[in-house]
Amino acid sequence: MDYLLAPLAHKRSLGPAPSAVDPTFVRRRDARPTRGAPLTVVTRAEKLATHPEALASAKKRAAVLHAFAHHELQAAELFCWAILAFSDAPAAFRVGLAKIARDEARHFDLYLSRVEALGAKWGEFSVRDWFWQRLPDCERPAQFVATMGLGFEGANLDHGQRFESLFERAGDAESAALVRLVSDEERSHVAFAKHWFEQFTGGCDPVTWRENLVAPLSPLVMRGPTIDREARREARMPEALIDAIERYRA
Ligand SMILES: [Fe+2]
Ligand SMILES: [Fe+2]
Repeated sequence: MDYLLAPLAHKRSLGPAPSAVDPTFVRRRDARPTRGAPLTVVTRAEKLATHPEALASAKKRAAVLHAFAHHELQAAELFCWAILAFSDAPAAFRVGLAKIARDEARHFDLYLSRVEALGAKWGEFSVRDWFWQRLPDCERPAQFVATMGLGFEGANLDHGQRFESLFERAGDAESAALVRLVSDEERSHVAFAKHWFEQFTGGCDPVTWRENLVAPLSPLVMRGPTIDREARREARMPEALIDAIERYRA
């Protein structure tokens, strides 16, 4: 709760994850994060540059990394939200959420530091709080790990490979290495989601996964233009689920 309500300037790090959860925590599905200056939240964010020629501009690369920083911020906040929202879930699951929240806050800081190194500032580009518009509709922890972990974090594995290569082609090895580092760390988050989805539902098949996505989300927003099968396999995603996600096309 403290992290959710902290001023935006103080969200670049999150204290060590606890080894146990406080059993006196009350259920707080209505918890929402602080927003306001310097962050401008809009309903439609500007399209990010996805061509190496456009990414030759440091400002355009900073805009992409700023969007990634904002994704990581929302992830850090939403993992904290899930601890509050699913207060009846197993303690080991909630401790795991706290550990991931800490990773996400670190990813947020890493991306923001790179934005600053490229000469831009936090809040310089407007953002869309899209994950916050969707994830709080999760009523059960199985829906949260299906949507956030297997869905969005799984998609991040595809996008990671793509943007690493785009930054490399644009001559920005440092940004490419950062995308690679974050993407590598996301694999364990997807594996966490897969483990707990199995615990909650008894399996990890495509039909049960699809049934647990919060409406109106479609699997189409949970994949990149090309699927990084190797990364998804390393994240322990079952082959049948990878196949099903690959078959969804616009
Ligand atoms: Fe992350
Ligand atoms: Fe993550």
